[in-house]
Amino acid sequence: MSDVPAFGTPARRLFQLEDGSIYLNHGSYGATPRDVTAVQRHWQDRLEAEPSRFMEREFRPGLRVAASRLAEWIGVEGRAVALVENATQAVNAVLRSMSFRPGDEILINDQTYNAVKNTVRWIAARTGAVVVQVDLPFPAYSADSLLSAFAAGLSGRTRLAVIDHVTSPTALVMPVERMVAAARQVGAATLVDGAHAPGMIPLDLPSIGADWYTGNCHKWMFAPKGCAFLWASEEVRADLHPTVISHGYGQGFVTEFDWVGTRDASAHFALPDALGFLERFGPERVRDRNHRFVVDAGRRLADTWGTETGAPPALTGSMITVRLPDGFGSSQADAIELRRRLLDERRIQVPINALAGGLWARVSGQIYNDDSDIDALAEAILTERRNSA
Ligand SMILES: Cc1ncc(COP(=O)(O)O)c(C=O)c1O
Repeated sequence: MSDVPAFGTPARRLFQLEDGSIYLNHGSYGATPRDVTAVQRHWQDRLEAEPSRFMEREFRPGLRVAASRLAEWIGVEGRAVALVENATQAVNAVLRSMSFRPGDEILINDQTYNAVKNTVRWIAARTGAVVVQVDLPFPAYSADSLLSAFAAGLSGRTRLAVIDHVTSPTALVMPVERMVAAARQVGAATLVDGAHAPGMIPLDLPSIGADWYTGNCHKWMFAPKGCAFLWASEEVRADLHPTVISHGYGQGFVTEFDWVGTRDASAHFALPDALGFLERFGPERVRDRNHRFVVDAGRRLADTWGTETGAPPALTGSMITVRLPDGFGSSQADAIELRRRLLDERRIQVPINALAGGLWARVSGQIYNDDSDIDALAEAILTERRNSA
């Protein structure tokens, strides 16, 4: 372990983040280590040195190597894993592969990611399916309350339930296994949107029991942007197609997804090295540290501001929401304006959302963050409030 940099500033040197910025938003787009970006560039160079040979001989085998490596991490077989560019693409592939009849219900919730909500609405508008949206409790104090709010939206007509593993605006780690089981009881299919989960939460996909699971590798697994996966259970695999139909059509799940036209898959080819980066630090050690970091950060921020966090430690992964003190307004426009000021005037990057009648910061903790980042945010909010009083 002695050659592994310490968390905080030493680890930050391995990333390409600008000097002087306070980056508390790993969750939105990840941040790729310098060495992983170098590997990605190496793959691009290799392709351009002999484009035809690379595309015709190395492209698909390279994807399969990456998929098999990832498969070990998520407890499945490589042939059950399609590599896609992002979770949005994967959700679209699942929804567009299903057939819905008028009156079929698709269950989402108020915290479902907006791009996913749009996809569900688009499918519903084309098929006559009905979108059922339930409100989840927020702040959320228990897994039971999340489960019962979700279950209230299930009925004998529910054809598909879309379940976030970690919610985007509120950073809640959902009781997915129990939600999937509840959906199955009414005969609904289940798609778990685990955009944030890989690298943040230990994953063993078969134990979740869903029909489909998608996760991003470009967030908490350190892969370059444009690296995500879609896993499908054996029963639904044959009917699943990518959003782009190409040469592989009819030749099986993996073949269809591997070739969706000529493209740059260097982010996928660099995935084994991103996983190697994580292994160097120890995946469990990173997860635990990030979790402890944000739980502690949430408590300190809430104490400083006289507010509360959006979830207890049991529902928290590597991100936490903290309510801002009153005085900043309560609309999404207020949230956007405060976020802009923090970034433009103080170089603090942190998402702010309007929720539950107030504004909330969503704080990510990654190996390059340290307490001084949290202190800077705490102080910036107090100063902003004094200035606007
Ligand atoms: C829950 C959830 N789903 C889907 C996405 C979309 O991810 P991407 O932009 O990589 O498709 C995100 C992004 O943050 C998310 O939080």
